Amino acid sequence: MKKILVTGAFGLVGADLVPALSEKYGKNNVILLAHKTVTKVPFNIEKGDVRKKPQLEKIIKKHNIGQIYHLAGLLSVGGEKNPPLAWDVNMNGLRTILDLAVRYRCRLFWPSSIAVFGPTTPKINTPQRTILEPTTIYGTTKLAGELLCRYYHQKYGLDVRSLRYPGLIGFNAPPGDGTTEYSVHIFYEGLLKNSYVCFLKKDTRLPMMFITDAIKGTIKLMDARSDKISIRTSYNFSAVSFTPQDLVKEIKKLLPGFVCTYKPDHRQKIADSWPKSINDRVAGKDWGWRHEYDISRMTKEMLDKLRLKLKIRVNKV
Ligand code: SER
Repeated sequence: MKKILVTGAFGLVGADLVPALSEKYGKNNVILLAHKTVTKVPFNIEKGDVRKKPQLEKIIKKHNIGQIYHLAGLLSVGGEKNPPLAWDVNMNGLRTILDLAVRYRCRLFWPSSIAVFGPTTPKINTPQRTILEPTTIYGTTKLAGELLCRYYHQKYGLDVRSLRYPGLIGFNAPPGDGTTEYSVHIFYEGLLKNSYVCFLKKDTRLPMMFITDAIKGTIKLMDARSDKISIRTSYNFSAVSFTPQDLVKEIKKLLPGFVCTYKPDHRQKIADSWPKSINDRVAGKDWGWRHEYDISRMTKEMLDKLRLKLKIRVNKV
């Protein structure tokens, strides 16, 4: 079989996607791209930069790659710290991958985000097709990227597929530099310190999804028959919608002494520009998307898995 390349393999999505792909297709068929040297990881790793075409081309040829999950990129908060870098990595990285995917006839997955929406977008039950006027550099690169993906599909017949990820909550990777990531930090600090200072207001409602659902949906989209894919920009993709105080209520059920205080900062403005809930009916209709985890089930699983992970780390020291 042709192999699968995963860029950004150590991020929030990659950390769970790689084991899932390895289980489905066999470890030897999954190649991880890392931009730094990584050791002691039981996977096939290649070092490379997504912006460097010759480097990537060599890797694609060497491993006979047939599918690419291109996850490498800067998130919303990281992007605002260095907009030129966000544009460079997110756009030039995507263009390199798109060109190589055309040349080597690869099926490509690329994540978009709720960040493509902006303050002028209808906020509740946001439809698939709507006003797209993002205010962050991250959202701007995601919107431009969506259009570029569709262009490559129409012009070159590239089989590119994409999801507008909501805030993702996972336990395998440490939280990244995103606005929705308060929902990951809160679990680590809850377990380690029994308290958390949230950088968003307590009533900031955002679309969210547990990582297990996100991985299941991502692989399901990539497995779908090509004629089922009616959206070549990016699908609305949704599960639950909650506020920090909703999450705190759930955590307190399992960690009764937990205390959360609120100190909103510059990230509040980003959160306020995004929708509160997403309509993902088209994904359901086209390729059968349905989420499984609600906020209670997700909270329990996060605490169970993180307890295990943190304890393992403590024992190793
Ligand atoms: N999790 C992302 C962020 O907050 C949204 O796609 O940046």
